[in-house]
Amino acid sequence: MTSTFSSHSLLCSTACSSSSYPSTEFKFPAKPIRSSSSTVQFSSDKIDEHVSGITDPGISFSTSRRRALISIAILPCLVPLSPNIGGLGANAMESGTKDHLLIKEEVRKVLSKGKAAGVLRLVFHDAGTFEMSDNTGGMNGSIVFELERQENAGLNKSIKVLEKAKKEIDTTQPVSWADLIAVAGAEAVAVCGGPKIPVSLGRVDSMVPDLEGKLPRESLNASGLKKCFQRKGFSTQELVALSGAHTIGSKGFGSPTSFDNAYYKVLLEKPWMSGSSMSRMIGLPSDHALVEDDECLRWIKKYADNENMFFEDFKNAYMKLVNSGARWRSL
Ligand code: HEM
Repeated sequence: MTSTFSSHSLLCSTACSSSSYPSTEFKFPAKPIRSSSSTVQFSSDKIDEHVSGITDPGISFSTSRRRALISIAILPCLVPLSPNIGGLGANAMESGTKDHLLIKEEVRKVLSKGKAAGVLRLVFHDAGTFEMSDNTGGMNGSIVFELERQENAGLNKSIKVLEKAKKEIDTTQPVSWADLIAVAGAEAVAVCGGPKIPVSLGRVDSMVPDLEGKLPRESLNASGLKKCFQRKGFSTQELVALSGAHTIGSKGFGSPTSFDNAYYKVLLEKPWMSGSSMSRMIGLPSDHALVEDDECLRWIKKYADNENMFFEDFKNAYMKLVNSGARWRSL
């Protein structure tokens, strides 16, 4: 507990509203842009060779960057991509296909309840960089280039866990990091007893890191959190539902491996206001901030009273999150 709290001050260290650029040598746009003039169609396998192969964090980053630079230079000419703002790309593949089952099966082999929280957090740290205004960031697997950022401290462990599954899946049908993380997060929720969430496939990985400072800082008040989520296309209700992800993990909201509505029940009790030092450690400042806001409080009360409603709203918000800013493979 103590160590998690001390690391909090380091997490999400850049203001959400900031638009500073990452200190990397990349000079290309954050995403390959659809080439309107391209008439060349590649099979999905071919695209995945270009896309997911180079984002393996197991290989040296300088090598991967060199290969990324080459690929990013040629990719827009070769691959027609479907950009996405908000909804599903035209070529997204529905959940439940053979590919989807293969990914789920391999993820289940490496995902224990104890690893679920880290994997679910990975989803937010990949997708949560999305900005509607300029359509940058989002669910594009770029997290594999961003693991050294303070806000992503500890997530390398979750990537390592998924890397094992990726290697296995890639031998049969290459999978993008973005698809893998999206499916793995849904499996993390399910393995802890939460709702079953269908996830579409076909996301294409970015070759470059997203802009830094797009994730919300934990010190934001409710108004700052609402604005930050609004810029990503999420309502206050969705902010409250998605924050319920903190019900698993080490923040002290009931069992760390049970995905339930304990988060909201505990928020209403405000244990961090009590004298005991253990109770004061429960939740993040951003969690505490939600209860102080009337609009958020209304949703917190609803979800505390009705777990099914929380599950349904979380499911829908999660589906939206993993489609945020996604570019879809052309089939
Ligand atoms: C509302 C804004 C949010 C802020 C400021 C925030 C910040 C944080 C911070 C600082 C931690 C602690 C990390 C650590 O212990 O090292 C954390 C944990 C976590 N976050 Fe968030 N988060 C937010 C929203 C979300 C969302 C939307 C999701 C997923 C849908 C999510 C999933 C998680 C999970 C599962 C953990 C527990 C990780 C673990 O214990 O291993 N968070 N978050």
